[in-house]
Amino acid sequence: MYKHIVVGTDGSNRASVAVDAAFELARLCGATVHVVHAYRPLSTVPAAGGVEFGVVPVDVVKTNADIREDGERLCRDAVGRANETGVRAETHCVPGDPADALIKVAQDTDADLLVLGNRGMEGVRRFVLGSVPNKVSHHAPCSLLIVRTT
Ligand SMILES: Nc1ncnc2c1ncn2[C@@H]1O[C@H](COP(=O)(O)OP(=O)(O)OP(=O)(O)O)[C@@H](O)[C@H]1O
Ligand SMILES: [Mg+2]
Repeated sequence: MYKHIVVGTDGSNRASVAVDAAFELARLCGATVHVVHAYRPLSTVPAAGGVEFGVVPVDVVKTNADIREDGERLCRDAVGRANETGVRAETHCVPGDPADALIKVAQDTDADLLVLGNRGMEGVRRFVLGSVPNKVSHHAPCSLLIVRTT
């Protein structure tokens, strides 16, 4: 059945419900899982005069390297969980928009299934579906499983 399953995580408990579902499916199908985490690097914003100023206040402790390292750690932890159950998994920790990253990894790996949670970190109750599955559903290059996490 499925050979390459792409799953996205923002590190939230809700997303981990989707990650675990992807691992279980992969175990049943003998598939490889590609765990994707997209992170947003600290950026600069254009000031009124067109000059760019860093938006990072002096007391912010995280650097871009820290943000990337956090993302890589959460991907590694997920892959460790997969390997414990005999599931092959790879990590894709990439900067940028999560939906774009998920679609690109699905294309690059020739994935036959994308797995996402219906909600993630924000988890606002008044919306049933988060922005990532909403966007991915319009552009997914393969089948999409939206796991109910709430
Ligand atoms: N940064 C990310 N990288 C990879 N996958 C992500 C990322 N953020 C979310 N996802 C995937 O999308 C699912 C839904 O999260 P989403 O961000 O859409 O909802 P939310 O955080 O509740 O609301 P919001 O749309 O306000 O961000 C998550 O369970 C996860 O599978
Ligand atoms: Mg979110």
